[in-house]
Amino acid sequence: MSWALHPLTEEQIAIQQTAREFAAQEITPFSAQWDRDSFFEPSIVAKLGELGFLGMLIPEKYDGLGLDTISYLVALEEIAAADASVAVLMSVHNSLPTQMLLRFGSSAQREKYLKPMARGELLGAFALSEPEAGSDAASLSAQAVRDGDSWVINGTKAWVTSGNEAGVILAMARTDTPDKRRGARGISAFIVTPDLPGFGVGKKENKLGLRASPTVQLVFDNLRVPVANLLGEEGQGFVYAMQSLDNGRLGIAAQAIGIARSALEHATAYAAERRQFGKPIKEFEAIQFKLADMATKVAASRALLHAAAAAKDRGSPITQFGSMAKLMASETAMWVTTQAVQIFGGYGYVKEYPVERLFRDAKVTEIYEGTSEIQRIVIARELYASS
Ligand code: CAA
Repeated sequence: MSWALHPLTEEQIAIQQTAREFAAQEITPFSAQWDRDSFFEPSIVAKLGELGFLGMLIPEKYDGLGLDTISYLVALEEIAAADASVAVLMSVHNSLPTQMLLRFGSSAQREKYLKPMARGELLGAFALSEPEAGSDAASLSAQAVRDGDSWVINGTKAWVTSGNEAGVILAMARTDTPDKRRGARGISAFIVTPDLPGFGVGKKENKLGLRASPTVQLVFDNLRVPVANLLGEEGQGFVYAMQSLDNGRLGIAAQAIGIARSALEHATAYAAERRQFGKPIKEFEAIQFKLADMATKVAASRALLHAAAAAKDRGSPITQFGSMAKLMASETAMWVTTQAVQIFGGYGYVKEYPVERLFRDAKVTEIYEGTSEIQRIVIARELYASS
């Protein structure tokens, strides 16, 4: 059930197969335990790096694989179908910090940070949100002040995926001054590494789902960042972050589709095995209709996502289609996993069966990298922008 409506190329099928085999050997046997223990397995980063899966969208000259976006998304779907916690690490790394460095970094920054990130030697993270700045990201308050050859940053970043494991964090902070605020244009992007003085890891979140993916606060207490670590132009950090999130949302859509597909596969198999009233429950129309609707929504979500990815690779703007794909896929994941739990009945509600974890993991796809409400705002704005 992982086929794409739009035919995949031979290379894309080979990548899908590699990802599926890797997931079957290195992830699926452990995912229930990692979830139960909230355990992040560090060796998974090195293994993903060896496959090139942490540099899929980075050109070969920066040590990446230089692949097209659909190749990346089919691999990500396979990883997510096995474990959404591993998928979010891969999505954030490939879509946000590495893309920011590729698109806006200097050649020295690409040499120093992007190359080892593409090889999987340094894991990347993205720090935009703060405890008081979530959907309203432009209201962030971490403050950077220039001091000689450094920027000194104070503030707390929140909800940072892999923030305690990352070797490079792309962090947004204000560079305007309190007497002359410039809104979104007063925000700059900085390359932060954990060895810098004043860097600290704060609270680790105790989450409903994605329990094997650490989500932390980062505390910048007079964090001293060399001026060479400013990314691109001062005051452009919010726009860079938004442009990167256009790509990031494609990754989260693929993650959501992987979760939904896995729930569909488990529910389909269970409905064939489980007998009630003298026959397998798949013979009841109530169950058939659920499975049919689940399969339809997964296929439609994937078709929209792959169309958005193809548009991106043709160079078309994807702000609207990226938000549509993320919105549809994440709401599909939540709906499909809810139906899967229902088909499993009581067994869907306990940890011995996999759909309970999929149901918990699905929820965050409607929240992070822009809530469903924010996606609808972006989609609606674009309707007026293009009219
Ligand atoms: N591409 C390029 N530029 C963009 C853009 C985009 N997609 N979106 C906005 N901009 C530009 C605007 O054109 C504008 O530029 P000007 O100054 O020239 O006018 C500037 O950025 C400010 O934009 P807005 O006026 O639209 O800003 P806003 O305050 O109204 O916010 C928003 C817009 C869409 C609501 C935005 O704040 C948003 O996306 N919020 C959600 C934040 C989010 O997704 N956070 C996720 C954090 S990452 C994460 O989840 C953690 C993880 O690790 C997984």
